[in-house]
Amino acid sequence: MVEPRSIVEFRGVTVRYGALTALRDVSLDLRPNEILGIIGPAGAGKTTLLKTLNRTVELIGGAHVAGTVLLDSEDVYRTRDVSRIRRCVGMVAPLPVGLPMSIFDNVAFAPRMAGVRHREDLAEVVERCLRQAALWDEVKDRLDQLGTKLSGGQQQRLTIARALSHDPDVLCLDEFSIAVDPVTTMRIEDVLKELRSTMGILLVTNLVQQARRLADRTAFLLGGELVEVGTTESVFGRSPADRRTFEYVHGMFG
Ligand SMILES: Nc1ncnc2c1ncn2[C@@H]1O[C@H](COP(=O)(O)OP(=O)(O)O)[C@@H](O)[C@H]1O
Ligand SMILES: [Mg+2]
Repeated sequence: MVEPRSIVEFRGVTVRYGALTALRDVSLDLRPNEILGIIGPAGAGKTTLLKTLNRTVELIGGAHVAGTVLLDSEDVYRTRDVSRIRRCVGMVAPLPVGLPMSIFDNVAFAPRMAGVRHREDLAEVVERCLRQAALWDEVKDRLDQLGTKLSGGQQQRLTIARALSHDPDVLCLDEFSIAVDPVTTMRIEDVLKELRSTMGILLVTNLVQQARRLADRTAFLLGGELVEVGTTESVFGRSPADRRTFEYVHGMFG
């Protein structure tokens, strides 16, 4: 069988913050139409891994990246066009980061930056992204209201709509449900299952059961190292490749 082409490939990625090694020689790939769960206790290097993909890790003083990161076969650290790379990656942070502007403008922000000018074109993008994020029905009659006035769960869906607004090839979510109620979490999980048909998703989660519910494959990071990656079935099954994986997914530490 031919292996499907990867959308993202981390090859031997090592990240240091000054003297601290946050990631050590991590190799991992994301395939098309896949949700790759990334689990591991706090400090494992999960957020750092996501930040190497859109090169926001460079914005951290003292950060140093070694190894190779490929996005759609393009070398992220050799490209001349970092902003293009950032457009290909939709990033959703743990806490919603709403811009202090209307719901409409929050989602229209990136398309406007990319040169979309006509109101109808912007309205089309805004509606599509809000629908994809399962927020449209709740906000369609008040698009000019401040985004920051929405509830926490709605704001997190607005963040997802914004991440989708530049048509990314990869959607990265970093512990999206930390400040979201369980009902909204379930709604967003349904959104992710739908989105999988159109893009690859890197799902960093502190909730191992969330990876179990959603991920096609799951990677376990510990202390900056990739302990193992495999089908979610095998990682959560009776005999994952590494004993530490078994202990972590069954709540024996972390
Ligand atoms: N801005 C930073 N400066 C220095 N060290 C950092 C910074 N961000 C994270 N670290 C360290 O890097 C390691 C990995 O952190 P992080 O990627 O945030 O892990 P996780 O998301 O799995 O909790 C941790 O030891 C953390 O303390
Ligand atoms: Mg983190």
